[in-house]
Amino acid sequence: MKPRRLLDEMFPRYFILLFGALLLLLTTAFSLKCTKYNVKTCQDCIESGPGCAWCKKRDFTKIGEPDSVRCDTKQQLLEKGCDGNIIFPENFVDPVSSAQSNTKKQIYPEVVRLHLRPEQPAVFNVTFQRGEDYPIDLYYLMDLSFSMDDDLQTVKKLGGDLLKALQSITRRARIGFGAFVDKTVLPFVNTHPEKLQNPCPTKETKCQPPFAFRHVLSLTDDVQSFKEEVGKQNISGNLDAPEGGLDAMMQAAVCENIIGWKNVTRLLVYTTDDGFHFAGDGKLGAILTPFDGQCHLEDNMYKKSNEYDYPSVGQLIQKLKEKKIQPIFAVTKKVYDTYEKLSKMIPKSAVGKLQENSNNIIQLIQRAYNDLSSKIILEHSSVPSSIKISYDSFCLNQIHTKNQPQGECDNVKINDKITFQVQITATSCIENQTFTLQPLGFTDLTTVHIYSRCNCECDEELPNKSDCNGQGTINCGICRCNAGYVGKNCDCKTGGKTSKELEKSCRKDNSSVICSGLGDCVCGQCICHTMADSKKHIYGPFCECDNMNCELHNNLVCGGEARGSCDCGKCKCNPEYDGTACQCLASTEKCRNKNGNVCSLRGQCQCNTCKCNGRYQPPLCEDCPSCQSPCAKYISCVECLAFGSGPFQKNCSDNCSNIALESKVQPKSKECREKDSQNCWISYTMFQTDGEEQYSITVNPEKECPQPPNIAAIVGGTIAGVALIGLLLLLAWRLVAELIDRREYHRFEKEKSKAKWNEADNPLFKSATTTVVNPRFNGQ
Ligand SMILES: *[C@@H]1O[C@H](CO)[C@@H](O)[C@H](O)[C@H]1NC(C)=O
Ligand SMILES: *[C@@H]1O[C@H](CO)[C@@H](O)[C@H](O)[C@H]1NC(C)=O
Ligand SMILES: *[C@@H]1O[C@H](CO)[C@@H](O)[C@H](O)[C@H]1NC(C)=O
Ligand SMILES: *[C@@H]1O[C@H](CO)[C@@H](O)[C@H](O)[C@H]1NC(C)=O
Ligand SMILES: *[C@@H]1O[C@H](CO)[C@@H](O)[C@H](O)[C@H]1NC(C)=O
Ligand SMILES: *[C@@H]1O[C@H](CO)[C@@H](O)[C@H](O)[C@H]1NC(C)=O
Ligand SMILES: *[C@@H]1O[C@H](CO)[C@@H](O)[C@H](O)[C@H]1NC(C)=O
Ligand SMILES: *[C@@H]1O[C@H](CO)[C@@H](O)[C@H](O)[C@H]1NC(C)=O
Repeated sequence: MKPRRLLDEMFPRYFILLFGALLLLLTTAFSLKCTKYNVKTCQDCIESGPGCAWCKKRDFTKIGEPDSVRCDTKQQLLEKGCDGNIIFPENFVDPVSSAQSNTKKQIYPEVVRLHLRPEQPAVFNVTFQRGEDYPIDLYYLMDLSFSMDDDLQTVKKLGGDLLKALQSITRRARIGFGAFVDKTVLPFVNTHPEKLQNPCPTKETKCQPPFAFRHVLSLTDDVQSFKEEVGKQNISGNLDAPEGGLDAMMQAAVCENIIGWKNVTRLLVYTTDDGFHFAGDGKLGAILTPFDGQCHLEDNMYKKSNEYDYPSVGQLIQKLKEKKIQPIFAVTKKVYDTYEKLSKMIPKSAVGKLQENSNNIIQLIQRAYNDLSSKIILEHSSVPSSIKISYDSFCLNQIHTKNQPQGECDNVKINDKITFQVQITATSCIENQTFTLQPLGFTDLTTVHIYSRCNCECDEELPNKSDCNGQGTINCGICRCNAGYVGKNCDCKTGGKTSKELEKSCRKDNSSVICSGLGDCVCGQCICHTMADSKKHIYGPFCECDNMNCELHNNLVCGGEARGSCDCGKCKCNPEYDGTACQCLASTEKCRNKNGNVCSLRGQCQCNTCKCNGRYQPPLCEDCPSCQSPCAKYISCVECLAFGSGPFQKNCSDNCSNIALESKVQPKSKECREKDSQNCWISYTMFQTDGEEQYSITVNPEKECPQPPNIAAIVGGTIAGVALIGLLLLLAWRLVAELIDRREYHRFEKEKSKAKWNEADNPLFKSATTTVVNPRFNGQ
């Protein structure tokens, strides 16, 4: 035995397991995206990814858009308004329990039907409840090399006890027996003819000739025949220490019918006190042909042992697994470590320390059986590489392992119930498959049928006359044209119009490029190109539209997806947003006045700010400082409303429907005072209410009208005036006369002073006055 080589053999195996688990983790963590390339039909779409859904709504595509826009994630299609018409095949699991429940099965469900969409993992639970009295087949494989002499004696002695002990575990136990030594070539055995006859070290001891493997007793529940057959066995001998145990185990496993294995718990007890030869060791005996994995028992002997090399450990493990055989290595202390390493590589196997003379073999087997049967390993039969399976185990005591390549629970006792959650993912569209899930060492199994869900399963719709030009059927929302017709609506006959004519209808005008250079002209209709990796998509009858060339806000087209989308140059804002680039909130909160009216009904709320009509002023279009006063304009209405007179008297309510007469003066009203049709002054207030030219008025009931004229006064006044004028004229005449008089006198005085009279008084002059002095008056 060379442990290095054993390790070399086990390493790649573990590596592969680890790698497999990693790969599984990666594939299950798929995200719901839909990346589509050149999708033309629903089928293409479904196959392009697990997140892809197809919209079969008839008028879903805009003019010019290719059918590939029907293929997107479910979420996207819903947003684009494809309600109730989405095709999205999903996994479904359909567990079918067995109708015949009288045969108590340990595993549930017995049948599972899985409808698998590629890349979508399907999950279901398998429960296992360990039953009582589970039948056992035990094959006792014994090393008969010389050192095992005492052991053979013990086993002979124990004889039927072994089977009886088994039958205490389960009523339906059977036992078989086989023996091995080694290949009968040098250097494994001494090929000296004499030694070949009696390989014992001394001539006295009777030994049987060496052999590779002899099957002695097929599995039986007959105690007696076991006793007898084992009793007949003689010890043998070989040269080197390692024995040909692998040859023997291999034949015991492969020769299923000869050994008599049934579909029950299969135990292979392997007793030895030495190591084993394995693949490659045959070269020492010039045996080069690798073991072929076949049963070569003739007359219960492995006669071709000298033709084939020993099997490899890997080969053995694989066969044991395939045949569901659980080995129990009952080995002596000396080689315990070697077999423990071997056991670790075999999923369900046990090692026990055998006493030198095998005295403890019964206890060893019992304990090993308990260990083996309390460890539940759920595995699947082989599946194509496109199916990935992983297991989560829900064991007892809340022990929970996830994402393992097999389900595994320890310490499961009779009637304990455990659950394995199996996750299955198909990586591609697969054929219908069937495989089984089976706990190792048990025959109960779950059969899993897998059906691929790669088809769209659209009902064929009968088209209306106008659909598909009457020349095809509708399938998954698109026209499937009859032979001889092509085009999106089957409106083109193959070999019909010439391409020149058809191309004309793909140009916007005579001078422009076909389909704006962004599409193909198919049968007179543009089918616009799709950009696989970008979000831009092109549509329109001439591919002149796209969803990118719109106003930007924050450097995002229409403010980004959350705010709105771009439709052929114009932003279509989501309900909460507004504006040409969806840059504003749609709210009108800041536009509402205290009555709750937007911009006082005299303007428009844009971006939550009022754009007022006319010369009204923001913020709420309440005031208009530069507007003409309404006082004069509505005097006729004031008159007819308040006094029932004036030009609108007849149909006041028609002409003045925008004026409301009220009794209470509103604050901030405009004071007016105008003359009415009767020349009376009316005082009133006007208050502009919400809306264009809407007023509420209050009117002072007192008009100020002019007094009628007073004839007497007028006449009297006139006469008085005439008299006065006459008087004034007299006065003026008198004044003029006076002035002339004064001037005359003045001139006289002046001439008088000029006439140089003598100093002496004019003798001719005699004073007009004569002064007489009273002598008696002295002035007192
Ligand atoms: C499987 O069983 C476990 C434990 O009982 C439970 O948590 C899990 O949800 C089950 N899974 C399914 C697919 O029913
Ligand atoms: C074992 O030895 C006995 C007598 O020594 C002989 O009769 C018997 O056939 C031998 N058994 C086998 C299986 O060779
Ligand atoms: C055991 O089961 C397998 C299928 O699992 C079947 O092919 C085989 O015939 C069965 N063997 C016996 C002995 O019942
Ligand atoms: C696969 O199974 C489905 C469902 O039972 C069946 O309709 C279909 O014909 C099967 N396909 C093949 C190729 O067997
Ligand atoms: C066909 O016409 C019927 C009414 O005549 C209408 O209900 C139906 O939706 C139409 N189908 C299609 C595919 O347009
Ligand atoms: C295109 O050409 C046709 C004839 O070739 C002419 O009748 C038509 O007016 C033209 N239209 C424009 C938009 O130039
Ligand atoms: C309303 O009055 C005008 C004159 O102001 C008159 O021409 C018209 O016929 C009247 N209409 C009604 C419905 O009385
Ligand atoms: C008053 O109303 C009538 C009809 O109701 C209309 O013919 C007339 O032109 C109106 N007059 C004014 C000044 O609006």
